[in-house]
Amino acid sequence: MPRTLIIGATSSLGIAICRKLAQQGEDLILCGRNEEELQLISSDLSIRSGIKTSIIILDLSAKKMAINTLLKEDFGTVYMIAGDMGTEDKNDISNIDHVININFTAPAKLLTAIAEKMENAKQGSIVVISSVAGDRGRQSNYPYGSAKAGLTAFASGLRNRLCKHNVHVMTVKPGFIDTPMTYQMNSPLIASREYVADQIIKALDKKKNSIYVPFFWRYIMLIICLIPERIFKKINL
Ligand SMILES: NC(=O)c1ccc[n+]([C@@H]2O[C@H](COP(=O)([O-])OP(=O)(O)OC[C@H]3O[C@@H](n4cnc5c(N)ncnc54)[C@H](OP(=O)(O)O)[C@@H]3O)[C@@H](O)[C@H]2O)c1
Repeated sequence: MPRTLIIGATSSLGIAICRKLAQQGEDLILCGRNEEELQLISSDLSIRSGIKTSIIILDLSAKKMAINTLLKEDFGTVYMIAGDMGTEDKNDISNIDHVININFTAPAKLLTAIAEKMENAKQGSIVVISSVAGDRGRQSNYPYGSAKAGLTAFASGLRNRLCKHNVHVMTVKPGFIDTPMTYQMNSPLIASREYVADQIIKALDKKKNSIYVPFFWRYIMLIICLIPERIFKKINL
């Protein structure tokens, strides 16, 4: 069985997805920038589930990402999970570059290289973790939201291009997940990472194109997107 490539394997959601895939017996290639942490996760997964794991060091902020190393590997499914909300300083200009790069530019470059490989192989699946934050810009996180909006559009275009080549692309828009990104947030809407991971894997099995996780975020975001701008601009979201 072809292996599964996890980009952002050290993320809270990434670890939860890896654990579920490992329980299903999938061999994994774990990508991230922290070698020590990747080794720990890798050993834990192979000891607990008996799967084969390997690691690739990949820094999304590096000028030259290890794209060629990644393309040498044999994989059938890719999960693009890495992301970063950036700083909360709304006047930090350097934050814009950083947030757009980690959440959009670098993933788009990697996905472009992976798309060509899968297109030539005429098979494969790509899961792109975007966010509900990309559905409408809000004062609390619009640089991050803008990057995720770009990623959502990119994934949509990729799906449109690759479906003719037997390659499936699924977009995932999570709401709040109990990870460091939502640390100190107190909301009844926060979902567990295990639940979100489970929903994502099940949706990919069903070849869904685009999902909200949990599902009710589809309706929350529909309402948020329908609020007229003259009212929306006065709301603190
Ligand atoms: N948590 C939420 O409520 C929420 C909601 C909607 C969408 N999402 C999306 O879901 C995904 C996972 O979120 P999470 O909360 O699980 O994230 P997380 O635990 O904060 O982890 C972020 C991941 O991104 C990686 N990363 C950051 N900068 C990187 C770089 N320069 N090069 C390589 N990797 C880098 C981190 O690697 P290191 O371990 O090396 O730092 C880590 O693996 C993200 O795309 C996020 O935008 C999350």
